[in-house]
Amino acid sequence: MTELASRPFKLDAGALVLRDFEEGDTDGVHAIVGDERVTHWLSFDSRSREEAQAMLDGILDRQNCSPRPEYYLAITESASPEVIIGFARLGLGGVKAADLGYALRPEWQHRGHARTAVSRMIEFAFNDLRLHRLTANIGPANTASMRLVESLGFQREGTIRDHVHTNGAWRDSVSFSLLEGEWPVSR
Ligand SMILES: CC(C)(COP(=O)(O)OP(=O)(O)OC[C@H]1O[C@@H](n2cnc3c(N)ncnc32)[C@H](O)[C@@H]1OP(=O)(O)O)[C@@H](O)C(=O)NCCC(=O)NCCS
Repeated sequence: MTELASRPFKLDAGALVLRDFEEGDTDGVHAIVGDERVTHWLSFDSRSREEAQAMLDGILDRQNCSPRPEYYLAITESASPEVIIGFARLGLGGVKAADLGYALRPEWQHRGHARTAVSRMIEFAFNDLRLHRLTANIGPANTASMRLVESLGFQREGTIRDHVHTNGAWRDSVSFSLLEGEWPVSR
C-alpha cells in the first residue's frame, strides 16, 4: 500500500480542509459521535465524552502506524480549522481497497459540504493512494447518504443482511462501490 509520510496530514478542499485529528479535539469528536441525530445513521451508538476521548486516542495511535491503516480526518472550514464540522474516513483493507465513511454535524448539513469533502477524499484515494476500489455501506433508510454516493458515481451492489448492531437492533446495509476509472463522475 502506498504510504504518504506527511504528518500532520491535510487535504485542501476549497472552502474546507480535511486534516488529521489532534490532541485537544475531544469536544469536536464528541459533538459528532455524541449527537444522536448523527449516530442514528452510523454503525455505532452515541458515545459519552469519555468514549469520544477513547475514540480520539485510537485515531491518534493509528495515525502513527506504518503502513497507515486509515485516514480518519476531521472536516473543518478553511477559515476555522479548529472547529470540527464532521469527519471523513478511508479504512484501508484488502487489495488496493478501502471503506469510506463520513458524517457532518447537523448544523453543517445541506450546504454541499459532504459532497465537497467526500469528493476530495475519493480523489486522494484514487490519485494519490492509487486504490482500485472503494466501498460504502449505508443503512437502507439513509436517503441522504445514498443520494450522496450515487451522485458521486457509486454503484449499488446489494444488501448485507444484519450488517451492524446499532440503536438496539440489527440493521442491514446497502453496499455501494466505486472503481478506479469510474472517477471523476461527470455531472
Ligand atoms: C449523509 C450526510 C453526510 C450528507 O451531508 P450533507 O452535507 O448534508 O450533504 P450535501 O449537502 O453535500 O449533499 C449531498 C447530496 O445528498 C443530498 N442530500 C443531502 N441531505 C439529504 C436529505 N436529507 N435527503 C435527501 N437527499 C439529501 C443532496 O441533495 C445532495 O445531492 P445532489 O448533489 O445530487 O444535489 C449527512 O446527512 C450526515 O452527516 N448524516 C448523518 C451521518 C451519516 O449518515 N453518515 C453516513 C453513514 S453511511
